[in-house]
Amino acid sequence: MSNLVQTITQSRIWRSFFRHGWPDNPLDRSLVMTSNIFFHLHPVKVNRKSLRASYTLGLGVMAVILFLELTLTGMLLMFYYAPTVERAYTYIVALQTQTPYGQLLRNLHRWGAHLMVLVVVLHMARVFYTGAYKPPREFNWVLGVGLLLLTLGASFTGYLLPWDQLSFWAITVGTSVAGYAPVLGSTAKAYLLGGPEVGQEALTRFYALHVMLIPLGIALITSIHIWRVRKDGGLAANDDR
Ligand code: HEM
Repeated sequence: MSNLVQTITQSRIWRSFFRHGWPDNPLDRSLVMTSNIFFHLHPVKVNRKSLRASYTLGLGVMAVILFLELTLTGMLLMFYYAPTVERAYTYIVALQTQTPYGQLLRNLHRWGAHLMVLVVVLHMARVFYTGAYKPPREFNWVLGVGLLLLTLGASFTGYLLPWDQLSFWAITVGTSVAGYAPVLGSTAKAYLLGGPEVGQEALTRFYALHVMLIPLGIALITSIHIWRVRKDGGLAANDDR
């Protein structure tokens, strides 16, 4: 290591930012990983294969990024929306026609939601294709199924909120189909709608599920999901070490 690099990495300023020296030896390389909030999600040593972009295709991380994008745009949309049958549709029309960047905001949320469903399904296919669901990762697969259901649930509940003809009839058909499911079908339909048909009670329930319960569930399970990846020894490709 040159004298200049040595002087810089041993200075108090460098040490106040980075709790390690220049990573040209095994100890400092490990410290780079363990002392950084983002890097510490990864094991100190990984199989070269697991770092290839073609292994994960970045799909899991893309799902996380889309969830964050949807949370941000969703919070902004809440400033311009009210979940009442009298006002919901008018608010959406006003958002699109009178609010600066309103149409962009709505489209970012809508397209982000479509993309998230696609990305989560592709991520699941990738996990299946690489056999990463096998022990010890079976529990993470189960968490993943929960995340898939919650992602679909977020899409379904969000669909009713514009309260236009398309959303009204889509949810009428969707909840009728759910009502025919064996054993729990009619109970689930009753809980979702809060009445005999799609009306104010359904809108209130779909709104609460869409902006609060489902996003909280996704945030919580995603945290456990990513923590499990780490605890299961990193990505499955690392098992070949
Ligand atoms: C909101 C939905 C989801 C998010 C945010 C998410 C996030 C992630 C991330 C960041 C990783 C590590 C990097 C990567 O593989 O790209 C991962 C790995 C994994 N995910 Fe997901 N995931 C989601 C849904 C699912 C689903 C639907 C399944 C399966 C049913 C699943 C099963 C797994 C498994 C088994 C691993 C470990 C893969 C390996 O070791 O190669 N995940 N997930």
